[in-house]
Amino acid sequence: MRRIDQIVILTGAGISAESGLGTFRDEGGLWAQHKIEDVATPEAFLRNPDLVHRFYNARRAQAAKAQPNAAHKAIARLQATFSGTVVLVTQNVDGLHEKAGSPAIHMHGELSCALCAACEHRWDAPMTMAVGDTCPACASSTARPDIVWFGEMPYHMEEIVEAVQTCDLFAAIGTSGQVYPAAGFVEEARMAGAATVELNLRDSDMSHAFEEHITGPASDTVPRWVDQILNGQ
Ligand code: OAD
Repeated sequence: MRRIDQIVILTGAGISAESGLGTFRDEGGLWAQHKIEDVATPEAFLRNPDLVHRFYNARRAQAAKAQPNAAHKAIARLQATFSGTVVLVTQNVDGLHEKAGSPAIHMHGELSCALCAACEHRWDAPMTMAVGDTCPACASSTARPDIVWFGEMPYHMEEIVEAVQTCDLFAAIGTSGQVYPAAGFVEEARMAGAATVELNLRDSDMSHAFEEHITGPASDTVPRWVDQILNGQ
């Protein structure tokens, strides 16, 4: 059996579904209720910043009330007790990994953070952001949610690609494989010789690229998968 020293875990909205946060593309998901081009692009923010703030204010309020579920907690347990390295990369902006005690690399930003569009200063977002909010560093009225919108470059890509290309095991949990560059990580990990596993409620658009599939709700599958890794050490 292949020795596993470095694990990279990519999480998506599915890991937070059982914490009561809706996903984007499942039936009735966020992108069925809102048009991406109205709320999640830089052009949308230029056109109607009030609508974009209201969309993210609602999500911030929901996330603040949500609690991590057994899947978030199992990943935290893996990070705390695995003998090697566990790099957790998340597309989620909800902060539930941190609430579970997991340090995560946020490639799509965080609801809890505000960003100045002018000077790129970051600060803790208030629960409600509004048009005209000023940047505490440069005082311009250019505060925006620190979320990576469609058409923008995800954060920490160099660090993430380095981890993906050097890992022994790549796992994707609760992500539909529809948004790049995250959807391409599995191919990069495979090319670098890593084992790959997908944990999802159902097949995703990238299922074909994974060697192993564990099907079911994350709160059930992730703790069992973590136990299996820790028992195999
Ligand atoms: P999606 O909504 O596209 O996909 C959610 C995935 O989670 C699907 O594959 C579901 O089958 C799976 N799922 C749902 N409930 C689950 C459960 N209880 N246990 C396990 N899996 C479950 O969400 P993401 O893949 O995260 O980007 O979406 C990627 C990006 O697209 C997001 O970060 C966001 C979005 O537009 C931005 O906003 C920039």
